[in-house]
Order: sequence, then structure tokens, then C-alpha cells
Amino acid sequence: MKSLTIKSTVMLAELSPEKTKIAPEITPSKIMQIGMGFWASKAMLTAVKLGLYSTLAPAALSEKQIKEKLGFSCSDRHVFDWLDTLVSLGFLERKGLLQDAVYSNAADTDLFLDKNKKTYMGGILEMADSRLYKYWGDLEEGLRTGQQQNEGKDNPLGNMEFFSDLYKNAEKLQEFMNAMSGIQTGNFLALVNQFDFSKYKSMLDLGGADGWLSIQVCLNHPHIHCTTFDLPPVEPLAKQKIRGFNLSDRIHVASGDLLKDAFPKADIIAMGNILHGMNEEAKQELVRKVYDSLPDGGAFIAIENIIDNERRQNTFGLLMSLNMLIENGDGFDYTMNDFERWTRAAGFTRIILIPLAGPSSAAVAYK
Ligand SMILES: C[S@@+](CC[C@H](N)C(=O)[O-])C[C@H]1O[C@@H](n2cnc3c(N)ncnc32)[C@H](O)[C@@H]1O
Repeated sequence: MKSLTIKSTVMLAELSPEKTKIAPEITPSKIMQIGMGFWASKAMLTAVKLGLYSTLAPAALSEKQIKEKLGFSCSDRHVFDWLDTLVSLGFLERKGLLQDAVYSNAADTDLFLDKNKKTYMGGILEMADSRLYKYWGDLEEGLRTGQQQNEGKDNPLGNMEFFSDLYKNAEKLQEFMNAMSGIQTGNFLALVNQFDFSKYKSMLDLGGADGWLSIQVCLNHPHIHCTTFDLPPVEPLAKQKIRGFNLSDRIHVASGDLLKDAFPKADIIAMGNILHGMNEEAKQELVRKVYDSLPDGGAFIAIENIIDNERRQNTFGLLMSLNMLIENGDGFDYTMNDFERWTRAAGFTRIILIPLAGPSSAAVAYK
């Protein structure tokens, strides 16, 4: 983020009456970069929302062409500012300058943010733009009150029940499913390569959304059969997605309430970003239910942004935990020590951590 870096040492030295005491290596650059980071974030999210990367995928375009395609009425200067911000952040490439310039996607935005490619993972960013951005505006209130700050703010639903409310709106349901696939794709691909599936025949994915984890497991491990289990409104979307991969004969879609209903039997029980939505008591209860449902030798896999035990490194995991305050009030992300405590208390004997993509890991407990 070159554009937010300022010659801070000079400024500080000029303003401070004790200028000789300021060590030159202490600057406000990081403070400014993070404090004003929402500018960069919103410039990026707006590009995703407006489909800029899909617009630029077929061919490089000039500012004039982009302005026309996106239907902007602002000044050319501000379109250049927005596009050149994205160039400075590394999300666009540019040849030439201003009126002589043409813009194209950077390699990563072209692969992951062009909606016409199967590798598109912008669902989470679309949801960040349409929901999380405004709800995070009330983080202060969340911290003061401990209450969720999303759609359920005025009518708190508690724990994971806000899903049933969210899913009354078909558009929001689809957006949430896309967001979940987007954020987990790298992790699921890493898991199917790193976890030893050879000893098992079946996997149950609890809160499996549109079946994305089951699809990845079945594509990579032909001997496995999966059940993806979620709330009833999700079932048609999961069935449709699974049909698209010709896997309907190997992936069963089950509907129910994971808090109330018995689990379908399976050798592996997986859960992606489920435990973090719950308070500690509910987490422990669910872990015990998973243990009781697994056969001896079975495995429980939680795919989450496991926070490092020292709580210093995994910034994304810590922020995700705050996101659970915004979304659920009393949900929180956790460390491997926490996971080990809950799973050992339930009876699991061997517990390991498999690092996945970026800040995410698989916490695995064997019965
Ligand atoms: C945060 S999403 C995670 C989705 C997916 N496992 C992943 O890793 O991307 C939580 C999922 O749990 C489902 N869910 C929430 N409450 C549930 C319940 N009581 N019973 C079954 N599924 C539930 C939601 O519909 C949603 O698909």
C-alpha cells in the first residue's frame, strides 16, 4: 500500500517539542495504513461488486471504455483515481498514463475475481461489501453491549439461529453460500491433499452449506461417500451444485438441525466454520455429540481460522472472532489449546493440527 506511506519521521520531528527523543525507526506509517485501511478495502470491494475484474478479463480497456461499461456519471478524474488506486494496490495492471492508459487485471484478480471463471472466489468479498462492511461500523456497540450487530441486531436470535432468518431471503441465501465457498476453497483443496482419507469410507459434513467440501473430497478420493447436512432451505442449492459435478450418486444431501437432530453415521465428521459461531457451552456440547456419533477410530475435523496459542500471530483468526461478535454475539474463534481441551474432555485421544491455506487450519481429533 505504497500510497498510504508518508514521510512520517520528518513530520513527527517537526511537530514534537522533544524531537531529539524520537527514534527514527518509529513512524506512524503502520498506524495510518491500518487506520485508513477501509479506504483501500472499499475501493477493492467496490471493484468486485461492480464486476470490474470480469469486465477486464477478456481484454484491456481504457478509462473511457470502463466508465461507459460500468455506467459511471462521476468525473473522469475520479474514475482514474479509483483505477490507479487499484493499480497502486497491485490489483490492476496499467500500460500508459491517464487518457493514453489501458487497464487489465493482475494475475490474481484475473484468476480469482473474474465471475466467468470457475476459480471465482469473490463471494466472500461480495458479502463483505453488502453486509459486513456496514455491520462492522457498529463494532464499538458490539464491544460495549456484547450483542450481535447484524440483521438480528434489533431482534437478537442468538448463536446460529440467525441463519434461518437470513435464509428467508433467497438472494441473501445464495450470497451466503457463495461467500462460504469463496472463503473455504483454498482450505478444502489443501485438506483433500493433506488429510489421509485412505482409511475411511464415509464423511459427514455438518453445516456443509452447498456441499463444497463433500464435492472436493469426492473429486479427489473416489472411494469416499459423503453426506452434506444443513438447514432445509439450503438443500436445493446443494443438490443443484452437486448435480453440476455429476456427484449425486456419491453425495447425499440431508436436512436438519445439527443442534437437535441425530447425525447420519459416518467415519469422519467434518465441520467448516461451525464451532466458532457458538458460545463455549454449545461448542462443548456439540463436540460431545460428535464423539458419541463417531465409530472407534473415527475422525473429527474442524476447519477454522484456528488462533495461535500465544494469540499474537493469526490476525485474521482474531478478527474472525470479532466477526462472530458482530454476527452472533457470543460466538468466538479459538486456539488449538481450546480445541484440545474440549475434544479431550469429550473422550478423543489423539489431536493434531493441519495448517491449510493462509490463516486457516484443520483441527483434527481421533476417537
Ligand atoms: C459459517 S457457515 C459454514 C459453511 C461451510 N461449512 C463452510 O465451511 O464454508 C455455517 C453453516 O451452518 C449451517 N447451519 C447453521 N445452523 C445450523 C443448524 N442448526 N443445523 C444445520 N446447519 C446449520 C448454515 O446454514 C451454514 O451453511
